[in-house]
Amino acid sequence: MTQAQAKSLFAEKLAAEKGKGTYRELIRLEGANSAVVSIGGRNMINLCSNNYLGLIDHPALKKAAAEALEKYGVGAGSARNIIGNTRLYEELEQLIAEFKNEEAAVVSQSGYNCNLGAIPAIMGEGDLIFSDELNHASIIDGMRQSRAEKKIYRHLDMSSLEEALKERRGSCRRAMIVTDTVFSMDGDIAPLPDMVGLARKYEAMVYADDAHGTGILGRGGRGTVDHFGLTGQVDFTLGTLSKAIPAVGAYLSGSSEMRDWVVRNARPILFSTSLPPAALGAAAAAIRLLMESTQLVDRLWENTIYFKEKLRELGFSTGRSKTPIVPVILGAEEKAVRFSQELQKKGVLASSITFPVVPRGQARVRCIVTAGHTEDQLDQCLDAFRTIGQELGV
Ligand SMILES: Cc1ncc(COP(=O)(O)O)c(C=O)c1O
Repeated sequence: MTQAQAKSLFAEKLAAEKGKGTYRELIRLEGANSAVVSIGGRNMINLCSNNYLGLIDHPALKKAAAEALEKYGVGAGSARNIIGNTRLYEELEQLIAEFKNEEAAVVSQSGYNCNLGAIPAIMGEGDLIFSDELNHASIIDGMRQSRAEKKIYRHLDMSSLEEALKERRGSCRRAMIVTDTVFSMDGDIAPLPDMVGLARKYEAMVYADDAHGTGILGRGGRGTVDHFGLTGQVDFTLGTLSKAIPAVGAYLSGSSEMRDWVVRNARPILFSTSLPPAALGAAAAAIRLLMESTQLVDRLWENTIYFKEKLRELGFSTGRSKTPIVPVILGAEEKAVRFSQELQKKGVLASSITFPVVPRGQARVRCIVTAGHTEDQLDQCLDAFRTIGQELGV
């Protein structure tokens, strides 16, 4: 194929996406992804960010990142198992284990990478993974990579999970139940205590992806496992260092044997350069802040409760949300897209989420509340919701 032919191939693919209306323009930020963002010289209130605790431009994190950068340089220079393992890495893993009250933790380059590497390091041919139908794409990719069989159960439905376990547990070597803890499209929470109960009954392991629970749920943001009082009872807990803890990276916490195995067998850890020192320094500083005070987590929940209550008073449905992820369910796809566009005109950024990401007829505008929002900013968003709701007859 010539370069010109390859170019026209992509031009055709892009034109097809534009024709279907699925082509998305990328938003270009001109500063930090904080509560208010600058786009094209205009300030907008940001309801799209995973910067749950507002820590993305916190002075203590910037200082720790700068110090790590100064001492270790800009990159790791190698995969972890060659010479990309620094004191910073090991100190961060120990700090995470202490924070989570677990024996150990292993850090990888992102939440996506962690699922892609850890699931195949734990499960393989002859094993069976029981997975919620709405689990994150990185779990799906990790399962594929593992060559284990998978059995999908209905979203959060414990009778569907038990039925699957009853039917299939006898036919596999090892079994593992894998779930998002907080689902990023609905903000609902997996019933971990029931899952742990079923895991015991059917001799399965539990793998909880706490990407959107870490720093949000549990005492001082210790996560969903802590929220349910299950510390020590979930075999593998993934937490990200890219959302509430706003650098980049992720970890898997659990037993020290698990840590020693995964660090030596997860392919993204073995075959990809380890994290830059600045990210490790910033992540450690964020965890130290969480260990010192619950102030930011408390503030996040005050904002969340305030915003949701006011939205409901205005007559909007927030679906199954139990967390700072607040879907405003609008139904028709066009309505959700139009609503989000109108919000932008009024200086509020909130994504429209439509089919196939969510089922048809359940299109929504998804809002993410953070500790960084002021009450005045949330009121401005609520005003915009009220006016647009009236205009569009929602
Ligand atoms: C449940 C879940 N797992 C993993 C990830 C990936 O995390 P990261 O952005 O650190 O790769 C996400 C990201 O949105 C997620 O929602």
